Amino acid sequence: MQFTSSWRSPSNIALIKYWGKHGIQLPHNPSLSFTLSECHTNMHMQVMPNASSPGLDLKYDGKDAPAFRPKMKAFFDRLADHLPWLASSAVLIDSVNTFPHGAGIASSASAMSAAALCLADIDDQLNGRVTSLSNEWIKRVSRFARLGSGSACRSVFPIASIWGKTANVEESTDEHAISWSEQVSPLYHDYRDTILIVSSGEKSVSSSAGHELMNSLPYAQTRYAEAKNNIQSLIEIMRTEDRVEEFISICESEALQLHALMMSGKNPYVLIEPNTISIIKEVWQYRKETNIPVCFTLDAGPNVHLLCPASFIVPVQDWVNTTLVQYCAGGVYIPDRTGNGPVKLI
Ligand code: PMV
Repeated sequence: MQFTSSWRSPSNIALIKYWGKHGIQLPHNPSLSFTLSECHTNMHMQVMPNASSPGLDLKYDGKDAPAFRPKMKAFFDRLADHLPWLASSAVLIDSVNTFPHGAGIASSASAMSAAALCLADIDDQLNGRVTSLSNEWIKRVSRFARLGSGSACRSVFPIASIWGKTANVEESTDEHAISWSEQVSPLYHDYRDTILIVSSGEKSVSSSAGHELMNSLPYAQTRYAEAKNNIQSLIEIMRTEDRVEEFISICESEALQLHALMMSGKNPYVLIEPNTISIIKEVWQYRKETNIPVCFTLDAGPNVHLLCPASFIVPVQDWVNTTLVQYCAGGVYIPDRTGNGPVKLI
């Protein structure tokens, strides 16, 4: 007997960053992210339970992709208690991303959340349950996704989500993310994220190594406290549409703190590139000159996420084309926006 499932799942961009973990993929501080729309993974999974030769076969766009195996294998091992059939199954995964792999666009977020969706769907089929996309079901998926990659647990909710125990946020937990779309002003339901690809190469240092670095950083506790303060402020700021200046201040500070952490360990490293800095300076100058509320955030890589309300996208796009495109590798950028979360594919 063979079971199949196909899902599209998006990437997400954290505004309040998760950097530092303990236990089994548990965060040291809560994070808040926008779910993206255009940057996603399409995944097809086939499972043959009780197979004569159990194992994991990974393909990327139809071609063998052994490089993804260690991370997916670790994910499957962590799921053993939740999905006991997995260990004796032959699993085939074929996926494709709509964005360059490993360039600080959270490919693990979209890929691991897509895998979690397929696995939860197949678990329902195996146990004769009709999958209902209930709140409980999606939280279960988010918990699974967290075991693959922490940030992945935030990708399964539309618009915005919070992961990690957060003061004054009922139901927030370190175990899985929760939806945060109803609590944010309509302004943030159509926020634009133009992703400027400064480099599409592989990251030189993995995010696992970055999380590890936090364990020996003298500023770690200060950073976790700062993230907790920032998320409290951001939650209030995003409830209304008239506090965008404060939104900008927190987003940019969080982005630069993430990279400052990488630069301040015993074995420091730098993931931003000269063009990342050039773009940041252009953003500050453009905002000063035009009063257009555009700001940047960064993931664990050199690319710049340019955020603005939808009503400003025309001038911002013009400015990207005339001024910022020179800093993008091969002139490439990805026009993205807040999105509605995963979609089951037929
Ligand atoms: O999900 P991981 O373990 O790859 O960590 C990702 C951490 C950041 O992307 C840098 C920040 C975040 O909260 O997404």
